[in-house]
Amino acid sequence: MRAISYARNGDPDVLELGEREVPEPRPGEVRVRIHRSGVNPTDWKSRRGAEPGKAVDPPQVPNQDGSGVVDAVGEGVSSALQGLRVWVWEAAYQRPAGGTAQEYALVPEHQVVHLPDVGSFDLGASLGVPFLTAHRCLTVTEGGPTRLGPGTLQGRTVLVSGGAGAVGNAAIQLARWCDATVITTVSSPEKANLAARAGADHVVDYKRQDVVAEVRRIAPDGVDTIVEVAAATNADIDVQVIGMHGSVAVYADDGGAPVSVPVRPLMLPNARWQFVLVYTAPKAWKAVAVDDVSAAVLDGAVRVGEEAGLPLHHFPLERAAEAHAAVESGAVGKVLVDVTD
Ligand SMILES: NC(=O)c1ccc[n+]([C@@H]2O[C@H](COP(=O)([O-])OP(=O)(O)OC[C@H]3O[C@@H](n4cnc5c(N)ncnc54)[C@H](OP(=O)(O)O)[C@@H]3O)[C@@H](O)[C@H]2O)c1
Repeated sequence: MRAISYARNGDPDVLELGEREVPEPRPGEVRVRIHRSGVNPTDWKSRRGAEPGKAVDPPQVPNQDGSGVVDAVGEGVSSALQGLRVWVWEAAYQRPAGGTAQEYALVPEHQVVHLPDVGSFDLGASLGVPFLTAHRCLTVTEGGPTRLGPGTLQGRTVLVSGGAGAVGNAAIQLARWCDATVITTVSSPEKANLAARAGADHVVDYKRQDVVAEVRRIAPDGVDTIVEVAAATNADIDVQVIGMHGSVAVYADDGGAPVSVPVRPLMLPNARWQFVLVYTAPKAWKAVAVDDVSAAVLDGAVRVGEEAGLPLHHFPLERAAEAHAAVESGAVGKVLVDVTD
C-alpha cells in the first residue's frame, strides 16, 4: 500500500511517499481503508516538532483525522464492523504507524465511529479534531450542558472568536444545532460570509468594528461561553463581554504569547478561564463528545463545503506535503487528502 511518513522533523518536504505492507489488525483494532485524510494544525506542528532535523524513529505516518471503510477486524472485535463506513479520531496520537495519510490504517476499535450515509467521506474526515475540540469548549461552562443536542443551549449566548476557522466553524455549527444565540468574530467580509453560512446569528468584523460594543449590544448581560482561538490578543475583550458564571474556553496559544487578565472583573461574575487540549481531555467526556457529534451528523446538522462556511481543498496522497503546507500557511476552510476513491 502507499503511505506517507516522516523520519525527521522539519518542513513539509520531510513527508515522503513510500510503499508498506498492508498491516494486520491486532486484538482490539480495526483496519480502515482510508478514503479521506483530514489535515489540522496539530499535524504540521507534530511534523515540525521542537527541533528541525531531529530523527523520528520509527517514522510517523501523519494526520489524526480520517474517514473510510472497515475492511478487517482484529481478535475481540465484532465482525459486524466489516464494511462499515466510519470516521476516525486521534489515529496518529502516540501511534507512529497509525496516521490516516495511508491507504490502510489500524485504529483501536473505540476510535472508529459509524459514518451514516448522510455524511460524506469529506465530512467524516473533518470531524475529529475540530468538532471534538468545539464540543469540549461548549461544555465547560458552569450550569451549562454537559451534553450537546437540540435545545441544550437554548437561552444561552456563545461567542466564537474566529468563526471562519475550522474549530470556529465547528463551534458555530454545534452551538446553532443546540439552539444557542451565536455571535462570532472574523477579520474580513469574505470570512463574515463564511461564518454566516456556518449558522452564526451575528457576525462582528473585529478589524472594522468595536467587538465589545457590538457584543454588549446583542447580549447586554454578557455571553455565557467564549470559544477562544486567540486568548492573549482577545483577553481584554473577553473580560469585558463575559457574563455571570460565564467561561472562556481557550483552545489555542497565540503562538506562545502569555495571557494576562485582571482578577477583580473576573471575580465579580465568578467567571471561569478553561484551557482545552483535545488529546488530554477526560476520557469520559470524550466518549460523550463522540456520541454527540455522531448525533449531529445523523441529524444533518453539521456539514462541510463553501455552503457550510468551510471551503474544501483536496490534494492527492502524493501531494500530502502541499496539503500540510496549505494548512500551515492558514488556508481558509478544510484541507483534505484524497487517499483512495
Ligand atoms: N487545544 C486543542 O485541542 C486544539 C484543537 C484544535 C485546534 N487547536 C489549535 O487552534 C488553532 C486554530 O485551529 P483551526 O484548525 O481552527 O485553524 P484555522 O482553520 O486556521 O483557524 C484559525 C482562525 O483563527 C482566526 N483568528 C486568528 N487571530 C484571531 C483573533 N485575534 N480574533 C479572532 N480570530 C482570530 C483566524 O482568522 P483571522 O486571522 O482572519 O482572524 C482563523 O480563522 C491552531 O493553533 C490549532 O493548533 C487546538
